[in-house]
Amino acid sequence: MQLSNFEAILSQVRDFSATAENIESLQQFTVKLIAEKLPHYNWVGFYMLDPVDPQTLVLGPFRGAATPHVRIPVTQGICGAAVAQEQTVVVDDVASDPRYLACSLETRSEIVVPIRAGGKVVGEIDIDSHARAAFQREDGRFLEECAALIGAYIERTETKR
Ligand code: SME
Repeated sequence: MQLSNFEAILSQVRDFSATAENIESLQQFTVKLIAEKLPHYNWVGFYMLDPVDPQTLVLGPFRGAATPHVRIPVTQGICGAAVAQEQTVVVDDVASDPRYLACSLETRSEIVVPIRAGGKVVGEIDIDSHARAAFQREDGRFLEECAALIGAYIERTETKR
């Protein structure tokens, strides 16, 4: 059931990315779709590396509670760790992870998946859940495929990077 949901979302993101006017509209489409189809993904958003300060992540389109973390140095947070390690980071219980930067008091678990373009990490997809250990291997695979679609769009549309 979940897997077919994942497939349906990926197919819609893929279709939208073929004609999206810009990266922001593709990101807006993606966060809205994911938040609607997967209600236990309680916060869904993008952080992208600042092109003029690539050591800092900047909040992009998101769904969920407002966050104080609009800019995150890559040395901080679960968000920073995913960029620093260039890999997906899953935290089953944010309360026991000293790296965690709190957004909502209700958050229990988090997954952050890097987005690559031209072989480099350019940003990430960040998901929080109110449920503990909400993110399994299939969620990681699904979000990595989403990140690959976004990265491919960036490669197609941004010549200078
Ligand atoms: N929890 C993240 C910060 C971003 S908010 O969850 C939206 C972190 O630890 O990096």
